[in-house]
Amino acid sequence: MPAGRPTDDGLTPMDDATTDQHAATDAGRLWGGRFTAGPDEAAWALGVSTAFDRHLWRQDLAGSRAHVHELHRIGVLEDDERDRLLAALERCGELFAADAFVFLDTDEDVHGAIERWLVEELGPLGGKLRAGRSRNDQIASDLRLWCRDACDEVVGLIGWLQQAFVDQAEAHLGWHAPGYTHLQRGQPVLLSHHLLAYVWMLDRDAGRFRDARHRLNASTLASGALAGQTLGLDPQAYADHLGFDTVAENSMDAVASRDFALEVLSAAAICAVTLSRLGEEIVLWATAEFAFARVGDAFSTGSSIMPQKRNPDIAELVRGKTGRVIGDLVGLLTTIKALPLTYDRDLQEDKEPVFDAIATLRLTLPAITGTVASLTFDRQRLAAASVGGFALATDLAEELVTRGVPFREAHEIVGEVVRLAERRGVDLDGLDADELAAIHPALDATVAERFDPQQAIDRRDGVNGTATTSVAAQLERARAAAAANRGSMGQ
Ligand code: ARG
Repeated sequence: MPAGRPTDDGLTPMDDATTDQHAATDAGRLWGGRFTAGPDEAAWALGVSTAFDRHLWRQDLAGSRAHVHELHRIGVLEDDERDRLLAALERCGELFAADAFVFLDTDEDVHGAIERWLVEELGPLGGKLRAGRSRNDQIASDLRLWCRDACDEVVGLIGWLQQAFVDQAEAHLGWHAPGYTHLQRGQPVLLSHHLLAYVWMLDRDAGRFRDARHRLNASTLASGALAGQTLGLDPQAYADHLGFDTVAENSMDAVASRDFALEVLSAAAICAVTLSRLGEEIVLWATAEFAFARVGDAFSTGSSIMPQKRNPDIAELVRGKTGRVIGDLVGLLTTIKALPLTYDRDLQEDKEPVFDAIATLRLTLPAITGTVASLTFDRQRLAAASVGGFALATDLAEELVTRGVPFREAHEIVGEVVRLAERRGVDLDGLDADELAAIHPALDATVAERFDPQQAIDRRDGVNGTATTSVAAQLERARAAAAANRGSMGQ
């Protein structure tokens, strides 16, 4: 219990801070001196952040190591003091790594807990580390470092999902599938073309994490509480120690801003939306109505009552988790939107949404990667659907264009052909040559070759098209993109 917190009955504030002026400060709370009474229990419960900011121990210790070196350089620490502090920080890290660091009820946050521990270990020397810094610049630095690692990790996970698509696209090169607009069959495509579309959506998702990482990689230490510090600490030295590309130009901006966290969250939300669309497609493909694909056993679940069921729960959960990631972004945007400069305690609310969004992607990305890899496709059903619904009507209209008919007119003519086929209950290739010729003289017997889906696919041979040669080349570019992102892991 912090000194001065209510007694067990919760009603009578103790006043022990008046008997020992330093008791409150000596605990893992860093600001007792100017108060005569400690915080109310409810106030303390609201303010304490160790439950979540403990996850920043690694980053906080790294910042403290840099600070020890700077305090030594400016002469605040003797050689042996530097060495004892560095050794203690090392031991502290070992405790955290072994999950053996014990937080006390009196620790307000991770910074206070570590300082309290250092004082227990080293006596007054532990208190020297606070010179020239503030939790305001520490927490900004800690969260930037955490987000930097998170971006690298997520980019790597995205790379593995891209790889699953590349592998599936390669394994099914040449298979036909229906391409949809409005969830109505539109034109035939290669199944691989559809699968590779996700590689590029995911590539931009990874790119957004890379962009966010690039911008957030600036050092905020030596900003002090808000105005900088008086001791002659060198901001660039912190950047060098911690691997930041640059130093934040303005100490007020450095402690006040969380747009870097918003960028990470928006990258996470957009990525989650990509995964949600993918989850939705897998759910559709796995229905008896579509029956284009079967999800592997390891990524399907059964029903507790209907023994026959084979449910795509993982794809549904990935779709469902998107709501919380969007909520994480909207929550932090809302927290920050009316905050005056510089640091406000509201900013303590930045960590949980960031941790939650990244933890969610850490769960969903590998799960959907496995799901994609587990898909087995039904070649016959896909091929039959690819030409259903008069999917070659555009090709017929374009053939008329090559025969000199204005497209506007060709569209009308083929509309009439479709109407006739619909009435007759046949597909376009089920119509007789005279029936076609009766609609328009340009519809002679040679247009029949336009009813071949393979030709329809292979004629779309631009670099972005679904032709077999185009998709084969695209596959190689997709493979390189996946490899580049996979390599980001643990960067
Ligand atoms: N726990 C705080 C946070 O997460 C650290 C900074 C506290 N600073 C302060 N002046 N109360 O934002």
